[in-house]
Amino acid sequence: MTEFTDVLGRSAIAVERVLDDLLPKDDRPEARLMDAMRHATLGGGKRIRPFMVLSSARLFNVAETCALRAAAAVEMVHCYSLVHDDLPAMDDDELRRGQPTCHVAFDEATAILAGDALVTRAFEVLADPATHSDPAVRCDLVAELSRAIGADGMVGGQMLDLVAEQHALEMPEVTRLQRMKTGMLIAFACESGAILGKAADPVRHALHAYAHDLGLAFQIADDLLDVEGDEKEVGKKTGKDQGAGKATFVSLMGVERARGQARMLTDQAIQHLDLFAEKADPLRDLARFVIERRT
Ligand code: IPE
Ligand code: IPE
Ligand code: MG
Ligand code: MG
Ligand code: MG
Repeated sequence: MTEFTDVLGRSAIAVERVLDDLLPKDDRPEARLMDAMRHATLGGGKRIRPFMVLSSARLFNVAETCALRAAAAVEMVHCYSLVHDDLPAMDDDELRRGQPTCHVAFDEATAILAGDALVTRAFEVLADPATHSDPAVRCDLVAELSRAIGADGMVGGQMLDLVAEQHALEMPEVTRLQRMKTGMLIAFACESGAILGKAADPVRHALHAYAHDLGLAFQIADDLLDVEGDEKEVGKKTGKDQGAGKATFVSLMGVERARGQARMLTDQAIQHLDLFAEKADPLRDLARFVIERRT
């Protein structure tokens, strides 16, 4: 695992360089907005989703410069979702990646705008010819990402997460919630390499199936860390989900069964990678890391 965290760390540095370029410091009167966007995006974070983009792009020999731009776009979307997730109106959190959350470091209005500007910058990056020379590929990236993070994806999942605080949900509904709020962006991250590489449908579907299982395992691991994790290690406040009445696998089936479920989903995810042989080893290692991580 240490070896894998080194690999993940090196890929994070490469993505951070691109993020730094795509979010240039500003000295205009509205500079506070870019400062907040940079606060939310740079410094900290495991950069798991960019790693998925880069690893899937390597399966299809996509140029690294193109893959890095797509990886940065996905991370911007993820960071926007965290900024809004932490707002007082949502999870009301003050610590993120070991730092004050965006609305604490700046203010609520600035945090809302920073989230808005991050998600729009992400689409601007994907639509830029520097991301791919073929307009059809860029269009596909934009269409698939919007589908993954909109009302039928991440944002819809965040709505369900709030609804669930008032109404008890059963397992199938919690599964749907988790897949929407976390799984669909992860699925896009894994499939984006196939889009960039114009891969055939069956290959793309295999990556989707891998991500479908991994995304759920990922959110179960996050929910387990909320119960068992160490605040300093995790970099965010723990022990919050139960008090807030969040619907999670842990709340429904308890810690041990939830951990078993995450392991089962990870094994299943790895099986979907068989057709890629050893070229998919980074994605296999990532799947194992997702459930073993302490952060
Ligand atoms: C946390 O995601 C939010 C969820 C969707 C569960 P990560 O655990 O990937 O957070 P960072 O990016 O490493 O901070
Ligand atoms: C966050 O889920 C999901 C999104 C941001 C879309 P959580 O609320 O569980 O994430 P943490 O625990 O705050 O990172
Ligand atoms: Mg939340
Ligand atoms: Mg939260
Ligand atoms: Mg959580």
